Amino acid sequence: MFYIKFNDKVFVAQKGDNLRQVLLKNGCLIHNGKAQFLNCMGLGTCGTCAVAVEGEVSQATDIEEFRLSFPPHKPNSQLRLACQCKVLGNLTVTKHGGFWGQNTDDITE
Ligand code: FES
Repeated sequence: MFYIKFNDKVFVAQKGDNLRQVLLKNGCLIHNGKAQFLNCMGLGTCGTCAVAVEGEVSQATDIEEFRLSFPPHKPNSQLRLACQCKVLGNLTVTKHGGFWGQNTDDITE
């Protein structure tokens, strides 16, 4: 069992849980604005579930690396696609601003 922190929420997840599903199940807004309705539902193609992750998650998938390699994402942003991450440890997750969560200087609440 691992602890996941997102803004002021803390909840538990099991090893191997899909990070996007865990966050959504616990009421976390990981899609900004209209991206809540306009997203790929976890296929790894839209890029709107991008989050900053501190802690251990699975390695980036091929589709995740591909989607994060082009705008508005930047290849070196250190963001991860929540839908492609498996929980492997205690995590602190931060959602940044912008439709895709790409504005790493902003933090959403
Ligand atoms: S939900 Fe579309 S890339 Fe994660």
